[in-house]
Amino acid sequence: MSISYSSEADEQIITSTSMLPEDYCEGSLRPRTLNEYIGQRKAKDNLSIFIEAAKMRKEPLDHVLLHGPPGLGKTTLAGIIANEMGVNMRITSGPTIEKTGDLAALLTNLQENDILFVDEIHRLNRSVEEILYPAMEDYAIDIIIGKGPSANSIRLDLPKFTLIGATTRSGQLTAPLRDRFGVTLRLELYTPDELQLIVERSAQILGIEIEPNGAREIAFRSRGTPRIANRLLRRVRDFAQVCAGGVITQEVADEALTRLEVDKLGLDSLDRRMLRSIIEFYGGGPVGLETLAATINEESITLEDVYEPYLLQQGFLTRTPRGRCITKKAYEHLGIEYLGQQQIEM
Ligand code: ADE
Repeated sequence: MSISYSSEADEQIITSTSMLPEDYCEGSLRPRTLNEYIGQRKAKDNLSIFIEAAKMRKEPLDHVLLHGPPGLGKTTLAGIIANEMGVNMRITSGPTIEKTGDLAALLTNLQENDILFVDEIHRLNRSVEEILYPAMEDYAIDIIIGKGPSANSIRLDLPKFTLIGATTRSGQLTAPLRDRFGVTLRLELYTPDELQLIVERSAQILGIEIEPNGAREIAFRSRGTPRIANRLLRRVRDFAQVCAGGVITQEVADEALTRLEVDKLGLDSLDRRMLRSIIEFYGGGPVGLETLAATINEESITLEDVYEPYLLQQGFLTRTPRGRCITKKAYEHLGIEYLGQQQIEM
């Protein structure tokens, strides 16, 4: 068995959950209302109650924290909340707000009941985060004017607003910030049924002819993520157009996705490399995340946030206190003989 050590996470692979340049048309596929939004039943049901109640009281919605793996529609859901509330949304992200003044400028420019969406909110720096506490709690910020002994603090009132924070790593939020969100919603990986509906909806919007089994094949191979499903749909359309008279059938989808090296269960080359490394070097595990990341030359955060959620959900990987372990199902999927747990004593 040979394993290459190049860093593939940096490459723009088709199963990446990050936004790629080719996802530019994602905007046109985004649902605009809760009714159009497929999946995330629990989050949606709760949100619709909170939105209706806030509208009845003519108040802004309580601050909302959205967390879960990338590509599941956190920005889309924030846009829907703004649309359903009938307010404007300003979009920013943790790493782009470098100075306290940047955040103060954003907050003071909001209008009553507006939404401020902060993506990757776990990456806010500490001094910026501290400005957020009174802003979220009292709709006010404290600005320091001057320096040294003559410095003065003045309190500036803000319009009432809703902060929507999105993060892939809620465990990295500080307790004071986490506690200031009235609503916390966890987004889950989508089921194949939900993804099939999303693929059929997107195909209709893009004018792509697709059979239900074609949509199902794409759904099964999209690792629970609408962003990947929509991307695969566009690539499969190319194959259908050039090789199969324009209609996406199950056979066309299967052939196209196999050529794109996305296997029957949606695993890509990095997934397989990760699973194989655990088998080859660590006898199937347990192996610590950092050790594994170094072995396959990837960032541990990438493995944990992007790769593991789907491998765990599919039952290929387990997390134990001593590290990651491969399951029998993973051996079978890779076509490697399973000789029982702990083949190599570490
Ligand atoms: N496109 C991307 N995500 C979607 C969702 N959850 N529902 C409908 N269309 C989508």
